[in-house]
Amino acid sequence: MIGAIYPGSFDPVTNGHLDIIDRASKVFDHLIVAVLENPRKPPLFSMEERVRMLNSIIDVYNNVEVDYYRGLLIEYAQKRGVNIIIKGLRAVSDFEFEFQMALANRKMDCNIETMFMMTNNMYSFISSSIVKEVASYGGDIKDLVPPRVYHVIMDKLAAFRT
Ligand code: PNS
Repeated sequence: MIGAIYPGSFDPVTNGHLDIIDRASKVFDHLIVAVLENPRKPPLFSMEERVRMLNSIIDVYNNVEVDYYRGLLIEYAQKRGVNIIIKGLRAVSDFEFEFQMALANRKMDCNIETMFMMTNNMYSFISSSIVKEVASYGGDIKDLVPPRVYHVIMDKLAAFRT
């Protein structure tokens, strides 16, 4: 049984993330989508909201679970006994930082491998930051996020405006 962890801040989950979840779920017997804190990006959604959004879209997969962790990704992987980390790569611009994180993670535990999946070119321009920016100025994000997530984002922005 081969398991993998797909980590991210998922603030919010996008169609690009969902594409990686879908494809990784076909490669691994078990996939854990793990919501972690990214200290470089203060989140819009709480950890609980991000977990809820993910849970609302993964019910079609019987080998995918959503979890969260406050701490190091490597510590979490060790705790779960999983030695593969899956990351999505959208463009060359992602590579440098992902490479640095993969090496830092390997330094902490050389038994845990980071593997990269190329994003589907339909989604290569989508990021959580772009989604939040477009939505905050009233732009249409319907094609960028799953429908259930769209409503949560719209509700959050409406709450800010009132
Ligand atoms: O979706 P993101 O924001 O690109 O995901 C980045 C994330 C959350 C995977 C990364 O910040 C992370 O691993 N955070 C946990 C803390 C950690 O392990 N930091 C050391 C990385 S070398």
